[in-house]
Amino acid sequence: MKLTSLAFALNAFNLAAAWPTFDIWSRGSKTPGLEGFALDNPIGPTTGGKGAKPITVTSADELLTAVRGDTPKIIYLEGEYHPSGRLRPGSHTTILGKGKGANIIGEGISLINATNVIIRNVGIRFVTGDDGMNIQNTMRVWVDHCEFESQISLELGPDYYDGQLDIVRASDWITVSNNYFHDHWKVSLVGNSDVLREVDIGHLHITYHHNYWRNLGTRGPAGRFGHQHIYNNLYEDFLYQAIHSRSDNQVLVEGNKFIGNTPIALDTYGLVIPEDSPNTCVCGDEELDGFANLGAKNDFGKSLVNITQVGDFTKAPYKYSLTPLKKVEKVVRENVGLGKIKV
Ligand SMILES: *[C@@H]1O[C@H](CO)[C@@H](O)[C@H](O)[C@H]1NC(C)=O
Ligand SMILES: *[C@@H]1O[C@H](CO)[C@@H](O)[C@H](O)[C@H]1NC(C)=O
Repeated sequence: MKLTSLAFALNAFNLAAAWPTFDIWSRGSKTPGLEGFALDNPIGPTTGGKGAKPITVTSADELLTAVRGDTPKIIYLEGEYHPSGRLRPGSHTTILGKGKGANIIGEGISLINATNVIIRNVGIRFVTGDDGMNIQNTMRVWVDHCEFESQISLELGPDYYDGQLDIVRASDWITVSNNYFHDHWKVSLVGNSDVLREVDIGHLHITYHHNYWRNLGTRGPAGRFGHQHIYNNLYEDFLYQAIHSRSDNQVLVEGNKFIGNTPIALDTYGLVIPEDSPNTCVCGDEELDGFANLGAKNDFGKSLVNITQVGDFTKAPYKYSLTPLKKVEKVVRENVGLGKIKV
């Protein structure tokens, strides 16, 4: 976020203080703070449960029930939830953690065959048996100001936890912004198999901006068959490939900063390292290379950039505000994760 737009946003919040509590939609027809593919796409802006009367859920069972179905709904979360199973939100849903943010522990969220979902100010932690969040065959999603956390250890290995935020099966028009991803091995997989070309090709348009990725293994993100616009992210300490583009996938990478021990910032080479895909042979898994395009200057630090193919995704098809590279680290650190938005 540019400082000018930050000042504007703060101003807007002050103005909004006298407005009805939690009515964050009345400021305009657009969703405030949203940019990228979840805003500008052929279907229309992501608005979640806009227009619905907000409810607050206080127990995990209530939460599991409240998110289901396709009628518009705005669901506020408060405190900590330990659900007995995965959340399965239907279409036209907004899930918002109040105040300092709400946390869902042990079980994650699956968005399957849905459209128009917003999830903000929610921590998703220590999910086992499946991904933290999994988005399948779902259009228009905004994941913003969330925090994803598990544990990274060489003893547990890459498969103890699954992905943190996996986006698969022709999902499309998604923005992932201002999130804090940390302490995890396989972070964000886009397109989960090279044999799903027919399913995925032409989909998987995702904007990743102003996220903080720290102490992770791989996949920040790793994309197949789609287009990901990756700007103004802060990367710190990745064991293997941070951004990986393969199987004809295209990434547009701009204004990102890489610090700490991150050997490989960006790689389009189709060889999936064994640690990324441990179910394959120890030699890794060979597939077609991807494409990478560099937009506004990145600060790759000491990290390797291995671009085997430059593609034609050289410009994002929408307006967005690029934070100057010098300010990226500070702006991202100050704005990511929970408790940073007024809810
Ligand atoms: C999602 O849609 C596919 C294709 O129509 C269908 O086979 C599958 O059962 C659906 N899954 C769920 C969980 O609704
Ligand atoms: C970079 O790409 C080349 C193929 O052009 C490959 O031989 C090499 O192993 C790659 N390096 C990494 C770190 O992936």
